Amino acid sequence: MTEISLSALPERVDVLVIGAGAAGLMCAAAAGQRGRSVLVLDHANKVGKKILMSGGGRCNFTNLYTSPENFYSDNPHFCKSALARYSQWDFIALVEKHGIAYHEKTLGQLFCDNKSRDIVDLLLAECRTAKAQIRTRCAISAVRAAEAGYRVETTMGTVVCESLVVATGGLSIPTMGATGFGYDIARQFGLDIVPTRAALVPFTQHKRQLDRQSSLPGTSLAVTASCAEGSFHEQMLFTHRGLSGPAILQISSHWREGQAVTFDLAPDRNLADWLPQRRQQSPESHLHSVLAEVWSKKLVQFFLLRAEITSRPLKQVTEAELQQIGDKLQRWKLVPAGSEGYRTAEVTLGGVNTAQVSSRTMECKTQAGLYFVGEVLDVTGWLGGFNFQWAWASAHAAGEVV
Ligand code: FDA
Repeated sequence: MTEISLSALPERVDVLVIGAGAAGLMCAAAAGQRGRSVLVLDHANKVGKKILMSGGGRCNFTNLYTSPENFYSDNPHFCKSALARYSQWDFIALVEKHGIAYHEKTLGQLFCDNKSRDIVDLLLAECRTAKAQIRTRCAISAVRAAEAGYRVETTMGTVVCESLVVATGGLSIPTMGATGFGYDIARQFGLDIVPTRAALVPFTQHKRQLDRQSSLPGTSLAVTASCAEGSFHEQMLFTHRGLSGPAILQISSHWREGQAVTFDLAPDRNLADWLPQRRQQSPESHLHSVLAEVWSKKLVQFFLLRAEITSRPLKQVTEAELQQIGDKLQRWKLVPAGSEGYRTAEVTLGGVNTAQVSSRTMECKTQAGLYFVGEVLDVTGWLGGFNFQWAWASAHAAGEVV
């Protein structure tokens, strides 16, 4: 399918969308299907780059259990209206209409059976039906309020529109075309930006820590990671730079520089009860071999060393010591050196302050005809398909009215 039309830009359209990502394409399709003339501009060389790289190439396009509780925002109520009016079931129906095969991986996360490309093709097909025009490699140099709309100057010419939709996403993965342009437009028209930071991002560790865990990269285990008000029971992965895996990405959204993260390394059992039981059953067994029933030998060795626990036959370990050992392993504290930042983060926390945007239409309350949709807004989902669901829902809300 042709994504790029090389013909000249129209001088005037009803709706101009900046950003041909998940939210921009969805909004263009919804507006075009109402009979509005729509133009989508993107400075990147192709549309939907983040969709293509998402979900390990299979796009986790929504989550069966999406609810407002799965989102962070200064105003936790803001996302409710759009999510209720365009739900996961609406997007699943669209996926099925296009005959895209999908499956639930875990925790309600829906992935394409084949490739993320299926989702980009779905959006392009919807845009084509809606007669929405798309231009890539088009840089925008200025946006100005004009009589009854906006004048947008680009490297391909000037376009005047009635409604301007900003769908430029967040700051994560600048090499994929992410910019702060949406925030600049928001500021230009007097909107505030809730401070941004990288989220759903791996942690880095200091060299000393990495040296101690040099045998572990590639090893994963189920944990409950907790920090501030967040707590997630998922897999954690040791890497050459630090820690990753779903538990880490999730908790990174709660973590601030310098804070400790607490890990329950055996979230499916109570070690303080289980260890005394095992001592009763096999008093001659060594602590390390009993713990190897919970983790791999490599992990047991690492945890015992780091927690300064000496392995010995269980019969030599008192009840109080077993309690302490259980406590150390189920309340393991670690202060990450940092995060990998926007270079690898899946999303950006913060963004255009929702206080100045209508939760029904995504229109700026103080600037008629200016809309913000998707990740550029201060609405950020958990890991698991929630961020795309927000892109679809917020874009659809705007697409119904622009
Ligand atoms: P998005 O970033 O998709 O699109 C913004 C568009 O604006 C881009 O095309 C960009 O080129 C364009 N743009 C930016 N600045 C511009 C400018 N100055 N001029 C013109 N155009 C400009 N979420 C999820 O739910 N499930 C998943 O599986 C994943 N997986 C995943 C993996 C990775 C590696 C990343 C980085 C992210 C994810 N996400 C995810 C998050 C998800 O990709 C993200 O939340 C949505 O793509 C946001 O959609 P938007 O349309 O708002 O922004």
